[in-house]
Amino acid sequence: MAPASTPGRHGLESRVTDYGDRDFSLYLRKSFAKSMGYSDAMLAKPIVGIADTASDLNNCHRTVPELIEAAKRGALAAGALPMAFPTISLCEPFVSPSTMHLRNLMALDTEALLNAHPLDAALLVGGCDKTVPAQLMAAASADLPAVLLVTGPMLAQRFEGERLSACTDCRRYWARYRAGEVDAAKISRIEGALATTAGSCGVMGTASTMACIAEALGMILPGTAAIPAVHADRLRAAEATGALAARLKLRPSQVMTEASFENALRVLLALSGSTNAIVHLAALAGRLGFPLDLRRFDALSEETPVLVDLKPTGEGYMEDFFAAGGMGGLLQTLRPLLRTDAVAVTGETMAERLEREQTIFIDRAVIRTLDDPISPVGGLVSLFGTLAPRGAILKRAAATPALFEGERRAVVFSSLADLAARIDDPALDVTAEDALVLQNAGPIGAPGMPEAGYLPIPRKLARAGVKDMVRISDARMSGTAFGTIVLHVAPEAAAGGPLALVQSGDRIRLSVRDRRIDLMVEDDELGRRREAWRPPPTPARGWDHLYATQVGQADEGADLKFLRKGP
Ligand code: FES
Repeated sequence: MAPASTPGRHGLESRVTDYGDRDFSLYLRKSFAKSMGYSDAMLAKPIVGIADTASDLNNCHRTVPELIEAAKRGALAAGALPMAFPTISLCEPFVSPSTMHLRNLMALDTEALLNAHPLDAALLVGGCDKTVPAQLMAAASADLPAVLLVTGPMLAQRFEGERLSACTDCRRYWARYRAGEVDAAKISRIEGALATTAGSCGVMGTASTMACIAEALGMILPGTAAIPAVHADRLRAAEATGALAARLKLRPSQVMTEASFENALRVLLALSGSTNAIVHLAALAGRLGFPLDLRRFDALSEETPVLVDLKPTGEGYMEDFFAAGGMGGLLQTLRPLLRTDAVAVTGETMAERLEREQTIFIDRAVIRTLDDPISPVGGLVSLFGTLAPRGAILKRAAATPALFEGERRAVVFSSLADLAARIDDPALDVTAEDALVLQNAGPIGAPGMPEAGYLPIPRKLARAGVKDMVRISDARMSGTAFGTIVLHVAPEAAAGGPLALVQSGDRIRLSVRDRRIDLMVEDDELGRRREAWRPPPTPARGWDHLYATQVGQADEGADLKFLRKGP
């Protein structure tokens, strides 16, 4: 159980080390604190703990040291003593097998440190795909007054007459390289031009989606989600967040309510944001004690238009969204659809914020009006059926509508290793009309539900000009990817879900219109296959063991079961 801060005590006097003699504990703590050169006056202030996620293995967090310096300035000027402490940090391309495998560990680490230290409030600095969700989950579980500060997106780079940024353009050019349209010399030049400033990926991928969701939930300072990482406003946002942390009153459970979740889902749909956000929001809802219902999400999708024109589904980059009005502009546009009773960490209701910002500049080339949307319905849909009894996700805004309906032959890969070994085999029996199926890439399977759902188009088909195919898996997909890709199939193959029973040559029927995905195999045949199915071995020790034995399915956010809030 989380140790409560001592009633009536704050700062250094709260949560003392347990030696059985409170006065001795305090005397010892102050003595050690004084060894750092603090005065008595400084040590008497309330403490803002700042979670420091700077890491040489996290390029997206390169600016964290200067953000913390600015945040400390703000907290100190507002009367608190800021104290930074390190936590786990995760960056997508530097972690094996996937950052998702460690998201829950980061959340657990952060929560434990928030509970253990003598803090009156927390300021959590994150930015890359999994760090913001992990910090939201930690804040929800610790339920200490807390605010997040995101690192902000990188700027796009000018390259041979076009703009590039991580990572939609990474994938676009890699697909062209695989298809033989781009040579090795050019792909090498592009490698040096995709990510040229500090910050998280510069499109509406998972990091940017989660930053916007954190703002929609009310957990970051209003208007700060989209500020570029290298803009001076980012440092001013850090200073203001530090000042806010010094006077925080609300706990995360008072901010992240069902009303603010509904706003977050509306924002996700209007952004046509990352599919990963669904998994993270499901995990976060589980921490707070209410379910994230995929069918409710689907209903919202039918009445929430896509308004923001950014890659991977549109044209712009995050810097364009910022210049166009950012989250303030989007929320103002979504006003008739929002729960205006939701309260932010500032104490301001959504209604009050919208009133205060009603004259905000909005560039309608980037943030469209409700009457002139990019799409009249949301960018994501959920699917159910005999192949996915607990649901699956499809990002229809990034998919090919001509592939939405129909029955296809399955071409099955039993694992990521099998996929790597056979996908480019010239002898692979596959056509553009088939559905590629990947098994054992879910929360338990891979492990960690890697972003492997964006199965490559087999090289022989790519070279013949095939740009998209139906692809189905229990994996996730990068928020910067695109295609007709059915993800998060639950239960996953490694948990014995129907996906485990699919064999090459089976027929799979997809209907986006009916929100169905069905395996067209007779029950008695499936029964025979189920009897022959065996679960994968469980890792014997360490985090891998804890993870494999406790992780939930995608519809539960792939959180550890014992971290979800009980009834
Ligand atoms: Fe960190 Fe994309 S790799 S945000």
